[in-house]
Amino acid sequence: MKWKIGNVKIDNQVVLAPMAGICDSAFRRIVKSMGCGLIETEMVSTRAIMHLNSKTQEMLMMTDYERPIAQQIFGSDQESFEIASKYIAENMKPDIIDINMGCPVTKVAVKSGAGSALLKDPKKAGEIVESVVNSVDIPVTVKIRSGWDENNAVEVARIIEKSGASAIAVHPRTRHERYDVNADWSIIKDVKDAVSIPVIGNGDIWSCYDAKRMLDETGCDAIMIGRAILGNPWIIRQCIEYLDYGKEPERVSSREKFEMFKRHVRLIKQDSDNPKIIAHKLRTNAAYYMKNLHGSVEIKKKIFQTETEEELFELLEEYVNSLRY
Ligand SMILES: Cc1cc2nc3c(=O)[nH]c(=O)nc-3n(C[C@H](O)[C@H](O)[C@H](O)COP(=O)(O)O)c2cc1C
Repeated sequence: MKWKIGNVKIDNQVVLAPMAGICDSAFRRIVKSMGCGLIETEMVSTRAIMHLNSKTQEMLMMTDYERPIAQQIFGSDQESFEIASKYIAENMKPDIIDINMGCPVTKVAVKSGAGSALLKDPKKAGEIVESVVNSVDIPVTVKIRSGWDENNAVEVARIIEKSGASAIAVHPRTRHERYDVNADWSIIKDVKDAVSIPVIGNGDIWSCYDAKRMLDETGCDAIMIGRAILGNPWIIRQCIEYLDYGKEPERVSSREKFEMFKRHVRLIKQDSDNPKIIAHKLRTNAAYYMKNLHGSVEIKKKIFQTETEEELFELLEEYVNSLRY
């Protein structure tokens, strides 16, 4: 089903969750090739954008193929949000700017007062949203957790809407809960009932059936998937086809996974010439694509022991050939 964030048209209800260290352009292009309706980048610090170095510039790189795309930023003060959002809107030209109000990581949330720490001060959160909205002429969205240590999602969502945000994504766990409890989808429903802007539901979608259940149970406008996509980009297409046409998902073979990994490697190499970064991305992605296959725990250990790309590919070829499916 088509929907919109501000004036940005989105073809279906499946959204890629922002994931630091994962959602680089290569990963996003793979996800887009599965038809993903809206792509989110990984979060980038507003301070880092102000003091732009080559690493930050590389993180901000995006291609037209990934559109519509939302660039996520995180920070703790209005001034850096204004400068960073203007810079991004003028230079990278994403379709949407997304503000992170969910990151639980100590360095981000506790030490610098960014990410989920903003949920402790809804007034400040609203001022930040308003200042970004006033700095750019593209839609601004916000991704929240349900609170810092207590659920205040509805209060924060109302303030965010009032401050001019065009949509809100809800990951219904507090910062305190990290990933230790199941996502409480009733909070997504509460937020949906409280605001008029589109609400994107997030948390614990592992199959197209979960996607449908979240839409049905919460009335949210779209669903956002994170961890389930790692090594399994097919889940995007499966969700779109199940939601839009009721089509049952097909099983993906180990050979298809290996071929997708090879495609992913080609994209990683197009984007970087840093051998250390490439080697790291190759091994982590190899482990993701092979997860849940027969004997994958053993193969994961071996993946991280390989020293060259050739060795890694030989290992995977032999492994995939040994599997029945
Ligand atoms: C490795 C990793 C990195 C993440 N990085 C971000 C991030 O940069 N920004 C953000 O808003 N959320 C981040 N998240 C949270 C996810 O976007 C998402 O809210 C969470 O994983 C719940 O969705 P899921 O159950 O579909 O994984 C990250 C999650 C993971 C696993």
